[in-house]
Amino acid sequence: MLRRSLLAVLSLPLFAALSLPGANPAQAQTDYPTRAITIVVPFAAGGPTDTVTRLVAESMSRDLGQSVVVENVGGAGGTLGAARVAQARPDGYTLLLHHIGMGTTPSLYRRLSYDAVGGFAPVGLVTEVPMTIITRKNIPANNLQELVVLIRKEREKLNYANAGIGAASHLCGLLFQKAMDAPMTTVPYRGTAPAMTDLIGGTVDVMCDQTTNTTEQIRAGAVKVFAVTTPQRLASLPDVPTTAEAGLPGMEVTIWHALYAPKGTPEAIVNRLSRALQVALKDEKLVQRFTDLGTDPVAQERATPEAASKFWQADILKWRPVIEAAGQYAD
Ligand code: MLT
Repeated sequence: MLRRSLLAVLSLPLFAALSLPGANPAQAQTDYPTRAITIVVPFAAGGPTDTVTRLVAESMSRDLGQSVVVENVGGAGGTLGAARVAQARPDGYTLLLHHIGMGTTPSLYRRLSYDAVGGFAPVGLVTEVPMTIITRKNIPANNLQELVVLIRKEREKLNYANAGIGAASHLCGLLFQKAMDAPMTTVPYRGTAPAMTDLIGGTVDVMCDQTTNTTEQIRAGAVKVFAVTTPQRLASLPDVPTTAEAGLPGMEVTIWHALYAPKGTPEAIVNRLSRALQVALKDEKLVQRFTDLGTDPVAQERATPEAASKFWQADILKWRPVIEAAGQYAD
């Protein structure tokens, strides 16, 4: 009851602030796009968000008849890249592809240079990605129970790599550490691509990251995997137990990605981008690559401004009381 009324109260200013496209249809450019479009990835090149974005960008560029260039603006848990897009001209030429951080940032960061809720016009959801708990390959543990015992015993020595506060790897790490009741020292990176390099090199010990970044390293034996964070096992990693099977029931998390334009982008442009996104998500090459990496594109009706907006609002409301109850903020 208390939770329901809290959500109701929280929802009022939030929904009022969320931007819907099409402030001025007269601005809509029917000949859009006439030049290259940039999609900002708020994390390092080569990481999971980057991987998803490059596949989407390549397919969208075919439908749009223009280059779609990916620009990595990593740092501060994705807020630097998000700020760049929120402050860009709302003309459809600068976009953002971001993950669950869009749902947590408005609560985690209280002093941002941009409007983390009202600064964007959602274009569509892209995918939902499972996470995996992984370590450097020579960690002396052979299953999740042993890993938990080891971390509890040696947590001064073992560290946890993430992509900054609000990043998916940070959230998954928080859930993992809470489930183990063992806080760890964290090492923040501009993305989990450089974190993965250090994990493979053995300079950091533990990470929880998206299958789009970890599947190939797991298959190659470059890192050790302990669990997937989904209720069911994954077809792409059939031998890896779920967190529940491995002894941490309730520790489940799935990451979502969506595409955004800056607030004020004309409705016709947002809708054109959404149509191109829907076409891209059916591209056979993209679907195959997503499947190989343990994720699926969202259904066509979810790659729309309305569906993305609704899902994003719900995620902000889901995380806000959790973050407020934890009292842990980024600033
Ligand atoms: C994350 O932890 O949020 C991601 O792995 C970010 C990234 O794409 O590097």
